[in-house]
Amino acid sequence: MLTPLKDLVQAAQAGHYAVGAFNFSNLEILKSITETAQRLSSPVIIQTSQSAIKYAGLGFIVAMARAAAEETDVPIALHLDHGTDLDLIKECIARGYSSVMIDGSHLPLEENIRITREVVALAHPSGVSVEAELGRLVGVEDEISVDEREASFTDPDEARRFVEATGVDALAVAIGTAHGQYKGEPKLDFDRLKQIAGAVETPLVLHGASGVPAESVSKAIKLGICKVNIDTDLRLAFHGAVKSFLESSDSYDPRKLLAPAMEAMSEVVATKINLFGSAGKAVR
Ligand code: G3H
Ligand code: 13P
Ligand code: ZN
Repeated sequence: MLTPLKDLVQAAQAGHYAVGAFNFSNLEILKSITETAQRLSSPVIIQTSQSAIKYAGLGFIVAMARAAAEETDVPIALHLDHGTDLDLIKECIARGYSSVMIDGSHLPLEENIRITREVVALAHPSGVSVEAELGRLVGVEDEISVDEREASFTDPDEARRFVEATGVDALAVAIGTAHGQYKGEPKLDFDRLKQIAGAVETPLVLHGASGVPAESVSKAIKLGICKVNIDTDLRLAFHGAVKSFLESSDSYDPRKLLAPAMEAMSEVVATKINLFGSAGKAVR
């Protein structure tokens, strides 16, 4: 059985740790995540972007996630990451996702509230949790001024208004992280995070956490982050392992090619789970 994200992030909030949310799009990535969570007795969130669903197919994603939940005894939430397509969100709810994200962060505040309320009304009656985003993550490639960077960050007063108006179960905040590989060291706005956490009781989510120094992630968790999203670090581990295998072996057996990739991804997942403090927190 898949677990609602709400249960995992609320337990994390009460226990002052965070749950890792790892993106997957195939069996090898999924098994690396869930088998490591099992080994460390950690709750875990497995998530797919809309493009990952397009790649693997919704039926395969749900079947693989259900199999992973049956094969383990740690709580697993299956979450839609950065949902923008209402039809797909409805389909994910109908097909068994235990959580969905509606990403209206690119919309004006009132529009973001409206669409998020709509998704909450669709999801909650089926026991499905909802994550939303307020503020905008800038791209690692974006050349923007300090003022533009500040303007894209989450405003604490707007966050209070947003969660009251929508009733979301988790809120993604923009405090200086970005998706993808950072060029320099990301600088997080911890004062802002503190203010947001003081303004809302809703568990907070950190996107773009790959490549963020461990001390910064720990500090963000201390200040109220309860869900941490990781994708790029898994992709880099996968890519690095496949590349060195191909440089050193002539084997054409896909299982031999992907075994070191799984090992490398499992190592990343274990490091993150230990950093987030969720090891040993599995209760189902
Ligand atoms: O936040 C974005 C995730 O890393 C997913 O990216 O659309 O390439 O699957 P994707
Ligand atoms: P990274 O790829 O930077 O780890 O971001 C992941 C993420 O936020 C998925 O929503
Ligand atoms: Zn994200």
